[in-house]
Amino acid sequence: MIFDEEINQTIRYIKPSGIRKFFDIAATRKGVVSLGVGEPDFITPWHIREEAIHAIEKGRTFYTGNKGLPDLRKGICDYYKRRFDVDYDPDKNCIITVGGSEAIDIILRTVLKPGDEVILPTPAYVAYAAIIEMAGGKVVEVELKEEDEFKLTPHALRNAISENTKAVILNFPGNPTGGIMTGSDYRKIVPILKAHNIFAITDEIYAELTYEGKHCSIASFDEIKDRVIVINGFSKAYSMTGYRVGYILAHQDIIDMALKIHQYTIMCATTPSQYAAIEAVNNGDRDIEEMFLSFKQRRNYIVKELNRIGLKTHMPQGAFYVFPSIQITGLKCEEFCEKLLDEENLALVPGNAFGDAGEGYVRISYAYSLDEIKLAIEKLEHFLGKYR
Ligand SMILES: Cc1ncc(COP(=O)(O)O)c(C=O)c1O
Repeated sequence: MIFDEEINQTIRYIKPSGIRKFFDIAATRKGVVSLGVGEPDFITPWHIREEAIHAIEKGRTFYTGNKGLPDLRKGICDYYKRRFDVDYDPDKNCIITVGGSEAIDIILRTVLKPGDEVILPTPAYVAYAAIIEMAGGKVVEVELKEEDEFKLTPHALRNAISENTKAVILNFPGNPTGGIMTGSDYRKIVPILKAHNIFAITDEIYAELTYEGKHCSIASFDEIKDRVIVINGFSKAYSMTGYRVGYILAHQDIIDMALKIHQYTIMCATTPSQYAAIEAVNNGDRDIEEMFLSFKQRRNYIVKELNRIGLKTHMPQGAFYVFPSIQITGLKCEEFCEKLLDEENLALVPGNAFGDAGEGYVRISYAYSLDEIKLAIEKLEHFLGKYR
């Protein structure tokens, strides 16, 4: 690159996403079966699509207010009360963003001062570390262990805290492990967060995919609620990835500051998508339930099959990913995925794309049809016949 020295050096040294890198290779090959992408395979329910179409038909195609449509903010606050028993005020505590992705970006840019540390439990969704660094923060990784069911333990949290700790990222149910935190798990870490005045940035994008029991939002702990920042969106729960609608729920002071970034860089989330999201949040509970049941069936099937063919796989309690150990093959995860793609035309994501703690694992998304999952299992079984 001829501009190496001239461009922003932080951006220069940020690694491109390990998922993208892998799928760029896969895209050059024919007939690849992929269980790599974290995107529901359902078409967005018709009544939601219809609202987007109506919005366009009726000419509702202008900017909305920066915070987003009032009815959408109200629908989201009602939803958080209805499903997770958390109170937020639509006018004071909510911004509609371009997916959860924008929400993560503007929140980190809002709270971080140069050199602030952010505790990142890993393996973690690929965007967090990059965005923390782009916002001038420092990533402090904490390993989530399979033997702890990929939960954040009080011990691990305490060990990672320093005088520079500003925030911790919580993503439960989590990508890529499917780990969850229950109310009693949170009860053990809340006093630590409170004692150290740490912001809890909780990405609850997979909240609706909690298979045993009900999702617990850490925002329901009143003693730290002022320092909890909720990130969520419509992509996963309603199969609306391309609509690009997400949101932030937080204390008014945080919202007012984050809004400055949002208004100068984005203006507002796409207007017809916001209308579709109003329909989803107000009338989509049944769709969530249907997709949930289908994901649960796929989860049970894939975990049973992976264990049967010899890949030790923890039963994930949420999201739509499994994270099997590939230890029996003796291969490093990138080598495993490269050979699998080469020899079986099957694309999975190496665990280390989600941080060093992911070495020894691969991520498999089961947001694919049962037929595709069955085919992938056959390919994996054939592959393991050669490498174990
Ligand atoms: C944990 C997590 N957070 C946020 C996102 C971003 O989702 P979106 O920007 O589509 O809302 C994803 C997408 O895969 C994710 O896995």
